[in-house]
Amino acid sequence: MSDNIDRYAVFGNPISHSKSPQIHSLFAEQTQQSLTYTAELAEPGQFKQAVSAFIKNNGKGLNITVPFKEDAWQIADEHSERAKRAGAVNTLIVQDNGNLYGDTTDGTGLVRDLTQNHQIPLKDKSVLIVGAGGAVRGVLEAILEQQPASLLIANRTTHKALQLAKDFSEFGTIKGCGLEDIKLEKFDVVINGTSASLHGDLPPIPETIFNSGASSYDMMYSAQATPFMQWSTQHGAKQVFDGLGMLVEQAAESFNLWRGVKPETQKVIQQIREELSAS
Ligand code: ATR
Repeated sequence: MSDNIDRYAVFGNPISHSKSPQIHSLFAEQTQQSLTYTAELAEPGQFKQAVSAFIKNNGKGLNITVPFKEDAWQIADEHSERAKRAGAVNTLIVQDNGNLYGDTTDGTGLVRDLTQNHQIPLKDKSVLIVGAGGAVRGVLEAILEQQPASLLIANRTTHKALQLAKDFSEFGTIKGCGLEDIKLEKFDVVINGTSASLHGDLPPIPETIFNSGASSYDMMYSAQATPFMQWSTQHGAKQVFDGLGMLVEQAAESFNLWRGVKPETQKVIQQIREELSAS
């Protein structure tokens, strides 16, 4: 391996569980790009130094995960408009002049997975997204770009949903409410953007939310159906998906930003899915 090969990495803590090295290695192989992609453990308080050392050693781009997203935002010299609105940076690009450009690819990843991989158009649909944390903020603009008939954000803590709806009101028809306010409304597409699935929990939402033919999407993924996916199937969702495709699609968008080549994602999603099921 050449010493000056282009290097990429995901920085986080913990990081050993990350699937990004495998995903990007498959992309590089498929597109015949010569690069390495590793998972880098950074210590809290040492993020900036770790990134500088990585860049000095031929680092060309980074993905950022928990708990360094805020630090990534801080060290970026410039931010894309979508990153500014999302208030998040998950991709850093080392520019020719050495500046760090911060972007976010999560929204694109979610919308591509829904609309292209699963053939669930959002245009003119009534969409509910549950949760109002960083993960939801990061995907709202991309969802609204698809011109749904309406987008409702429902959150356990109502004021956060109201604030998000206000922040994104210029992009489309968007409202916020508390989980208990959903009541008798029905939706074509329901997205779980809470972190409840991480803890095996389910956000308390009415059982009557699905229109006939509705789709349900959990932004989390796991080997088995998440509690939200199981609940959705039981209460009338016609199609139920997890967020593995979103993970691969946001990675593909980062890869494209760095290398100018868009990898094909279907086979990569399939391979990671098979490994997940076997684990
Ligand atoms: P992330 O970066 O993953 O979005 P976050 O910013 O901490 O993480 O946001 C977590 C989201 O999941 C929030 O919307 C949170 O609701 P609150 O704002 O009321 O805290 C939501 N959440 C987490 N666990 C939940 C649960 N068991 N039921 C309902 N909502 C839950």
